[in-house]
This record gives sequence, structure tokens and C-alpha cells, in this order.
Amino acid sequence: MQTLAADAVAPWDTWREREALQQPSYPDGQALTDVTTALRRQPPLVFAGEVDDLRAWMGAAGRGDAFVLTGGDCAETFAHNTADHLRLKIQTLLQMAVVLTYGASLPVVKIGRIAGQYAKPRSSETETRDGLTLPSYRGDAVNSHEFTPEARIPDPRRLMETYHHASATLNLIRAFTKGGYADLRLVHHWNRGFTQNPAYSRFESLAEEIHRAVKFMEAAGADFDSLREVDLYSSHEALLLEYESAMTRIDSRTGDAYDTSGHFLWVGERTRELDGAHVELLTRVRNPVGVKLGPTTTREQLVGLIDRLNPDGEPGRLTFITRMGAERIREALPPLLEAAKADGRPVTWTTDPMHGNTITSSTGYKTRRFETVMDEVRGFFAAHEQVGTVPGGIHVELTGDDVTEVVGGAERLDDESLTRRYESLVDPRLNHQQSLELAFLVAELLR
Ligand code: TRP
Ligand code: PEP
Ligand code: MN
Repeated sequence: MQTLAADAVAPWDTWREREALQQPSYPDGQALTDVTTALRRQPPLVFAGEVDDLRAWMGAAGRGDAFVLTGGDCAETFAHNTADHLRLKIQTLLQMAVVLTYGASLPVVKIGRIAGQYAKPRSSETETRDGLTLPSYRGDAVNSHEFTPEARIPDPRRLMETYHHASATLNLIRAFTKGGYADLRLVHHWNRGFTQNPAYSRFESLAEEIHRAVKFMEAAGADFDSLREVDLYSSHEALLLEYESAMTRIDSRTGDAYDTSGHFLWVGERTRELDGAHVELLTRVRNPVGVKLGPTTTREQLVGLIDRLNPDGEPGRLTFITRMGAERIREALPPLLEAAKADGRPVTWTTDPMHGNTITSSTGYKTRRFETVMDEVRGFFAAHEQVGTVPGGIHVELTGDDVTEVVGGAERLDDESLTRRYESLVDPRLNHQQSLELAFLVAELLR
């Protein structure tokens, strides 16, 4: 990977001529320049070869030869970036992946909203509490959640902290996924513990089938490295353009630019303008990229995004992450699937069943209903079935911890229970058990 001279204008800096929504206004421009200059000298967080592998996997998912599982926090925080939280999150993703691999009879592409998901778009510039109005919290990469004037000032030094937290997280991921912790047999053993809970007994027979399959492999002497290791890729919303552009490097093998802040990067529903800065930056890098599509997306916008982000129709390059809302997906998604099918250039479709289904509980919490989330997943499969396109995966907000943020599920968390352990600073996440429940239900749909 090559580093540009400090004063060079990078070829991927064309986003600077476009409108950039949702950017922090840093009071100290020199401090920002100092940080981005330092970031440009840091080693890459991910490597071109890994990014290429993931692009190929995303292409396989677009054809129906693999299934994508993306999961992790709405917003990672520096404070929760501890070994315990990370271990439980990785464990949860792996447990889900085993169930989905069996259900789909396909390789599952494992992607975390992890090691970089530190910046958030906000619907309002400011937040008012008891008559005091301050800038909104935009994620730990930008400012602090604490409600004081000092804490809410965007601080560019947080971009360097973001880099270091992402780096430590990736190090732990590599250790866990290559060091025996991801062994299929161990992960399956955890799943059996889960289905022994009476609330989830309906999944016991599926777990038992998996158990027999694992035993069969053991008896037949199938004991290869691939049972012991997994590839877990990192992803985040490419929101902060200064950070993403400072993390972009030229691959010395090919001369292509890669955003080395994560393997997979997506543009959010609020920043997906065709001629906007976010789409522009992603046109310049080789990573597999995603775009969130809400229920108001038009066919013209969809084809425009393919023109911008995948003009040559490279498999795996472009993923559409639909987030329509359970009530709208069955009518809003099919016309878009038809438009992509008619266009012919391959895209990969995944569903984010969380962001179209956010409500406020009677107790005043931002929440989602487990049943509504599942309903959107069903609507996603139904829409693809109707049009004859491929449902390529799911993208969910989750944590490995036993939090109470999403209501419903077999343990029937209610509005009252949200007061018990609500820790998310932005959107509500499935807890460990709800995540596994979702994986088992999706596995049943995939069979
Ligand atoms: N390496 C294979 C894969 O990633 C099998 C595997 C090993 C696995 N450990 C796993 C699958 C944990 C899911 C979860 O698919
Ligand atoms: C998110 O993924 O946390 C998010 C903000 O999503 P969207 O852009 O779909 O609203
Ligand atoms: Mn979110």
C-alpha cells in the first residue's frame, strides 16, 4: 500500500466538490488538518486482498450461492470497546452464522457492524433538554454523548481515537476467529445451550439436526482447518468523509484505491444523493459498497446508483440494503427488484429489517418490535419470490449483551422491561437471545 505525499491532492478527493450532508462542523480547521495528515501515515486497517475476497463473496450472495449476515451495534462506543463486549458480540454473530449456514445450506458471509461504526447521521442538528440546546451527538468519532456544551463540540482528535479503537477491535477479531474460538463444534455447543432454554424449545429439533450433522462429520473424519476458523469482515457507514478519505490507500499491486478503514462500506438513507459527496467518494474505491434504500426510493434513483457505483456490472461490487418498514416492503420493494432485473447489471440484495420499524414505547424509549422486524424479513423473502430475484442476506443491529432495547420475542420483553437495561446511545439492538431467535427463524425460512 502506498501513501501519498502530505500535500498531494488524492484522486479520490473529488467528493470535495460535491455537497456533503451530515458532516460535523469542526471549530478548529487546523486541528482537523493535523489529524487527517497523521491518519494518512497510519498503516491500513484492512488489506486489499481481503477486500477483494469479500467482493467475490458478495457476488456469490447476489447469485444465491452464499448468504450474508451483517450484524452489530447501531453505534459502537469507545467505552464499550472492551474484550468482554466484543467477545460476546463476535460469539453472537458466529452462533447466528452456524444456524444460518445449516438453514440455507450455503456459506454464510459474516460481516460485523464493527471496528469503525462510530459515526451517526442525525435527523436534527441540535438536541434540546430542559431549555438547553446543544449540537446533536454524532457518534464517538465526532463528539461525546454527555449533555454539556464542551462535550458536544465536534473534536477532530476523535478521528485518531476511532482509528486506534478500530485497530484494537480488528486485532481481537483476528485472534478470536483464527485462534480456536470460532471452532464450529464449540459454536454449535453454545447454540445447544440456547435451545435448552424452555422459551426457545421450538428450535431444539433444528439444533438436534445440526448436532447430528456435526457428529456425522466427526465420525467420517472430516476435520479440516475450515471447521476451526472463520473470516469475519468489518463494515460501517462511510459517513465522515475526512476520515474515509484519509484512510484510502493505493494498492501497489494494481494501482487501485481502497478505503482501508473497513472491508465493506455503505452509504446511509440520508446521504445517498446521486450527485452527493458520499456516493462520489465510494465511486473512487474498489471496496464492495452498499446503499441503504428506504421506502421512497424511485426506480430512477436505483438505476442511477448502479450507473454511479457499478457501471460495469461487476458482481459483488454493489449491495442494496433495503429498509422499507414491515408495512411497506411488500408493495415498495417489488418495483425496485423489477427495475434492477430489467437493468441486468448484477446487484446483491440484503434486508435491514430494523430501521423502517423504529417506534417509541409507552414508557418513552426508542424501540422496535421483534415481531415487526421478523415481518419485514418475511416481506423481503416474499418480494424476491414474487419477482424471481435473490434474497442475499440480512443486516441487523444487535449486541451480545443481555440488554432490553427491542420489545417482544419469545421472552416477551414489554414496554416496562425497557427500563431495566437500555444501553444503546442511538438505536435499539436485538439482545443476544433475540439475535439467536431471529437466526433460527430466518433459518426456518431458508430451508
Ligand atoms: N469456516 C466455515 C465457515 O466460516 C465453517 C465454520 C467454522 C463456521 N466455524 C464456524 C461457520 C462458525 C459458522 C460459524 O462457514
Ligand atoms: C444505520 O444503519 O444505523 C442507519 C442510520 O441506517 P439508515 O441510513 O438506513 O437510516
Ligand atoms: Mn441505527
